[in-house]
Formats: sequence, C-alpha cells, structure tokens
Amino acid sequence: MQTDALILRAAKGLKVERTPVWVMRQAGRILPEYRAIRASLSGFKELVETPALAAEVSKQPVDILGVDAAIIFSDILVVPEAMGLPYQMLEQKGPWFEKTIETHADILRLNAHNAHENLQYVYDAIACLKKNLAGSVPIIGFAGAPWTIFCYMIEGKGSKTFSLAKKWLYQAPDLSHILLDKITEVTIQYLQEQVRAGADMLQIFDSWAEVLSPEAYRIFAIPYLDKISQAFAGKTPITLFSKGAHGSRKYLAALPCDTIGLDWTVDIAESRAIIGANKTLQGNLDPCVLYSSEAEIVKQTEKMLADFAGQRHIANLGHGVYPDTDWQKVKLFIDVVKNYKFKNA
Ligand code: CP3
Repeated sequence: MQTDALILRAAKGLKVERTPVWVMRQAGRILPEYRAIRASLSGFKELVETPALAAEVSKQPVDILGVDAAIIFSDILVVPEAMGLPYQMLEQKGPWFEKTIETHADILRLNAHNAHENLQYVYDAIACLKKNLAGSVPIIGFAGAPWTIFCYMIEGKGSKTFSLAKKWLYQAPDLSHILLDKITEVTIQYLQEQVRAGADMLQIFDSWAEVLSPEAYRIFAIPYLDKISQAFAGKTPITLFSKGAHGSRKYLAALPCDTIGLDWTVDIAESRAIIGANKTLQGNLDPCVLYSSEAEIVKQTEKMLADFAGQRHIANLGHGVYPDTDWQKVKLFIDVVKNYKFKNA
C-alpha cells in the first residue's frame, strides 16, 4: 500500500509541497478515449463488469489530465445489485431498478452477509489498475452512503425529492433503520475488500444528503457514516462527501473520518470554522465554472485555493464534472492547482 503519496499525506494532515487534486467523475464521458471504449460495448454495465476495461478507463484521467489519484471506475449501484436488486443504466435516463423495497419481507429477502462476494469484478478491476499504475498515484475506492443507497432501493430511480424514501423514515423509522443497517454491513465488507485489492483511500458518496433536514440526517445517516468511518479509522484514509448537508457539517465533524467533501454552495471559511482544524477538506469549485473562459477558470480556481489557504485541502470540484465539459478546461483546472504558489510559502 502507498503511504507517502501527496494526496494520502494531505488526507492525514501531514506536510505537503502543494495541494493535491482529482475530479469527481474524472473517468467518464468528458474524455474522448473513454467514449471510444464505451461505444464499442453493449453498455455502461459491461464496462463496469469487465475488470481490464474498468481499470483502463480509471487510468485514463491519470495519463491525460494528470490527476493525483485514480478513482476506480464503477458505480454506487453495484451494492444494491449485489444485495438482490439488479439495476439497469438507461441511456439518457439514468439508473432504473425493476424490483424495489416495498415491504418488511423485501428487506428480509435482501442478501446481507455474503453480498460483497458478488462484487469480485470490482476487486479484480482494482487489482488490475494497481498493477497498471505501478505505484504512480494512489487508488480511491468508493461506495454510496447508506442513506443514498436506501433512496435508490426504495425509489428505484432518480428523484428530485426522494419523498418515497423519506416517507419510510417518517412512517416506518424502525424498519428504515433495519434496512440502513443491512446496507452498512455490506458497505463495510465491500470497502474492506476494495482495500485488500489495492485501494489506498476511500470515499463515501452521500449524493442525496441534501433532501434530509439536519435532524433527520443526524438520526438516519450519521450513525451509519460513523460505523463506516470507525471501520477504517487509523487504517485507510476515508472521505465523507455528503452533498448539500449544510446543517449537518457539525455532525460530520465529530466522526472519525479524515476528510470531508464540500460542495460549491458552502462558504469555505465558515465550513472550516464549523468543522475545525482536524479534518482535511475536499472541494469545492462549482463544476459549471469550467464552462467559462480560461481566464475566469484560472481566477476562480486560484481564489478557491487562496480561500482554503493550503491547510489540509484536497482540490476537487464541488460535485462530479458534467459530461459536456471540455476536457481541456478540466485539465486547466488541474494545472492551475498544481502550479499554484501560496503567497507566503
Ligand atoms: O470517475 C469517477 O468518479 C468514477 C466513476 C463513478 C461513476 N459513478 C461512473 C458513472 C462514480 C464515483 C459514480 C458514483 C455515483 N453513481 C453516484 C455518486 C456521485 C454523484 O454523482 O453524486 C451516483 C448518485 C451514481 C448513480 C448514477 N450513475 C446516476 C444517477 C447515473 C446517471 C447520471 C449520469 O451521470 O449519466 C449514473 C451513470 C454513470 N455512473 C455514468 C458514469 C460514467 C454515466 C454512464 C455512461 O457513461 O454511460
């Protein structure tokens, strides 16, 4: 396992010579090289489930964009599938589940204890990527947060409000906790296997944190993020990215994670004040800034770096890069971070 790579040192709060950078969704449709591979296949799932190809597209942003870490090419939805709810990725529409969770019996039928064994293709992809990277940059393994996976298991597709999933929290809180607990158990085993296969750090995506009140987030999300963080504390650096969970930053700050991801809607200084000095912060340029001119991208990226002041910071966008972004502007963002000199450094 790598230990002294730049991004791992930044995650642990050790000394760094510059701010490390990677981009959420860096392996994907922004790159012509990705689209070429994708076009030769039956679909997204074939790419995810073919380890040599998943490893290849994971390495593309390292070679083409020069990022400081590779994230394994996969999806958060492989976990519900491994538990018994297969997903489809519909062109132009996104994820769709034929079966969803509707009753207590549906929860009991879910595979929990051995579900992680159904994800060997992910571990194989990580092992293959590890070999291909030959120690150049660390590998980020990932999973969805229990709340976000719960959302897809109940709704069966994307939603603006996730009100069906939230209905469960308010009508059946005990059953909701049983389901969240099952997802957590599988997620921890899944992430442990990713580390065993070669992942050097981990990120938890709570993409739908934003639909919960701080109180609901404290009750239905935080205890499970706590369990996951505890499983890796002191072993593998772990990042919690709870998108839109502004009112919950104080709860996240108390968890034994190394890094907290910020979206672009929060103030950097305010977040640092709430979270304190003992965590690394990741983010948080608005992905839409990459639609602007080169001069504006340089200006806004440098402002973001100055606001984080080089203290425990991993540069990233505030959410995944949009697929219609010019990859050269993504590269510009990365180059600006890599070349930035702090005034009193
Ligand atoms: O480069 C990387 O960041 C690694 C790859 C990655 C994918 N999905 C590939 C993907 C990661 C980390 C994810 C996580 C993921 N998947 C999340 C959490 C992050 C976030 O965006 O909030 C979520 C919510 C999903 C579920 C998901 N997968 C949706 C809603 C969609 C459809 C929307 C879209 O972007 O098309 C996907 C599909 C998906 N996952 C694609 C990719 C590259 C696009 C499919 C394709 O290329 O055909």
